[in-house]
Parts: sequence; structure tokens; C-alpha cells
Amino acid sequence: MKRIVVVAAVLAFSAGAVVAQQDQVKQTQTMMKDNGKNAGALAAIVKGEKPYDQPTVDAALAQFEETAKKLPTLFPESIKGHKFEGDYSPSPKIWEDKAGFEQHVASFGKAVADSKGKIKNLDTLKAELSIIGKQCGGCHETFRVKKG
Ligand code: HEC
Repeated sequence: MKRIVVVAAVLAFSAGAVVAQQDQVKQTQTMMKDNGKNAGALAAIVKGEKPYDQPTVDAALAQFEETAKKLPTLFPESIKGHKFEGDYSPSPKIWEDKAGFEQHVASFGKAVADSKGKIKNLDTLKAELSIIGKQCGGCHETFRVKKG
């Protein structure tokens, strides 16, 4: 009887861990998807498909800033090796080269912070978006893998 209780407790515990892991994966992925949406909205302005719109710019920057703050916690050891749904997964390098990853997070955060208050029109948006975009791409190049 006692043994059954212990087994049940262990099962309940590992089920909880799996849920937490899935939540984390989902949260991480949602954050990156929102980055993609915001970057896309800014790119549409730069390409002239949409008129310049300060609230869109401010909302995107606020979300990038939030991402920069959260990035260090988005890839805990618990999701290492976890297959993400969709086209991309985190590369194992995030955990193998933690210092390098953290450096990317920091330089992304700096680029976002530096551009705050600077974007006022199409020209400044073009200039700043290219700086921020390089940071997104720089991290993806090393730390994101496209599933084949
Ligand atoms: C410090 C590293 C880092 C930075 C900076 C970064 N990303 Fe990512 N991004 C990742 C990793 C790792 C993944 C793969 C895991 C995932 O899909 O969430 C990813 C995935 C994505 C995805 C795919 C999401 C999906 O699953 O469909 C998009 C879109 C994206 N990033 C956009 C951006 C944009 C736009 C920026 C810049 C504003 C950015 N990212 C900045 C690391 C980063």
C-alpha cells in the first residue's frame, strides 16, 4: 500500500515536470513568434507597404525590450533537447556555449535600449531596424536550428 502511494506521488511529480516543460517551451516560442510579428510590422513600414506609425514602432520596441529581459530565462536546462513544434528549435549550443549565448542576449538588449527614443520617422526606423535585425539574425545563426 505504502509503495503504491510512493509510486503515485512520483508519477504525479514527473507529470508536473512535463507540464512545466511544455509551458516553458510554449512561452519561449510565443515570445519569439511575437518578435517575428513585430519585426514583420516594422519591415512592412520600411518597405513602404504600410505608412509610418509611431504606436506600432513603440509597441514593437517594448516587446523586444521584454524579450531581452526574459531571454536569459527562456532556455532553462529543463528544455534542453526538447523538440519545438514548428520550423525551428533551439540549438544545443545554447547550453554548450552559455557564455556566448548570454553575450548575444546582452548585445541584443543593448541594441534595443540604444534605439529607444531614437526612432521618430521612416529614416530613423530604417537605420535602427537594421541594427536590431542584425542582432536577431546573429543569435539565430548560431543558436537556432531550422528543422529539415
Ligand atoms: C539571444 C538569441 C536570440 C535573439 C536575440 C533573438 N532570437 Fe529569435 N530565436 C532564438 C532561438 C534560440 C529560437 C528557436 C526557438 C524558438 O523557436 O523559440 C528563435 C526563434 C525565433 C522565431 C521562430 C519562432 C517559431 O517557433 O515559429 C522567430 C520568428 C524569431 N526567433 C524572431 C526573432 C526576432 C524578430 C528577433 C529580434 C527582434 C529575435 N528573434 C531575437 C534566439 C534569439
